[in-house]
Amino acid sequence: MYILGIETSCDETAAGVVQDGTAVLSSKISSQIEVHHRYGGVVPELASRKHIEAIVPVVAEAVSDSGIKTHQIDAVAVTRGPGLVGALLVGFSFAKAFAYSLGIPLIGVNHLEGHINSVFLEPQAPPFPFVALLVSGGHTGIYYVTSHTAVELMGQTRDDAAGEAFDKVAKLLGLGYPGGGVIDRLSKEGNPKKIVFTRPYLDKSDFDFSFSGIKTAVRHYVDKHPSVFKSRIADIAAGFQAAVVEVLAYKLINAALKKECGHIAVVGGVAANSNLRDRVRHDAERKGLKVYIPSVKLCGDNAAMIAAAGFHYLNAGMQTGLDDDVFSRAK
Ligand code: KG4
Ligand code: ZN
Repeated sequence: MYILGIETSCDETAAGVVQDGTAVLSSKISSQIEVHHRYGGVVPELASRKHIEAIVPVVAEAVSDSGIKTHQIDAVAVTRGPGLVGALLVGFSFAKAFAYSLGIPLIGVNHLEGHINSVFLEPQAPPFPFVALLVSGGHTGIYYVTSHTAVELMGQTRDDAAGEAFDKVAKLLGLGYPGGGVIDRLSKEGNPKKIVFTRPYLDKSDFDFSFSGIKTAVRHYVDKHPSVFKSRIADIAAGFQAAVVEVLAYKLINAALKKECGHIAVVGGVAANSNLRDRVRHDAERKGLKVYIPSVKLCGDNAAMIAAAGFHYLNAGMQTGLDDDVFSRAK
């Protein structure tokens, strides 16, 4: 079965074709980073306007690259939320029109379940149940996943998402937007033990997170050392990243142990972080847990993951009406 996936929840216009929820035939992403970079964050109205320009060319390219013809597409899966409403509406309206004109099902997908289903696009996919850490720019949570469409939230951030913390710290260090990739690269030149930042919630037995305290600690450090912080920037980045990664890895592994579950996954934009990937693999091996992390290109927002989730929604009979709406916040 061929599913066309469409994703426009934030600042990436993406489309892709996936066969049977596992084989990526195409995955196109048109990024708006250039547009938002100068504002230091995503400007919602500009995001919507860029989506409306890009949606038709991106879908056309995704279909043409997939090697199948439009009439062979069995269903359209599209991100329904959470995300920026104006941005979501572009993809959602386009998908409705596409489904309506071809007379095929429309499947509105929860973006977070899209990220979780990204692990099934790799040859080594986890068996159910597994425990997933979802770390992105908008969300950070730990989920107990019992099927493609059933996830139980075990804990989540009480303030900033992990990716948001990376972006805010990069901004205050003058490293630009988005900050995750830059901090990841810069940290490799720094010593993570030179400047030690707080590890919030590490001593709590639940699976909630808090990242705004680490961000504030970095700001205090910068304010206290205005003349030298530039020369210590790699150490600050490495110290900050080490603090975030330690909390994420520790809570994920403890969540798996609590559920007596031997399989764990890390998904979402921050799953691209090299230190997080290494740390989770290292710590999990010591506890005898098997780790699943998608390749870097499937960690950030993409439409292949939406198509993969859509395939399973369809199998579960979960279709969306042509008179349905998007949603901005996680339900
Ligand atoms: O999943 P995603 O593409 O979009 C959302 O759904 O939010 O995640 C984007 C986030 C951004 O905050 C970005 O800074 C972060 O992922 N990110 C990283 C890395 N690459 C992207 N964070 C840490 N290390 C990275 N290598
Ligand atoms: Zn995302």
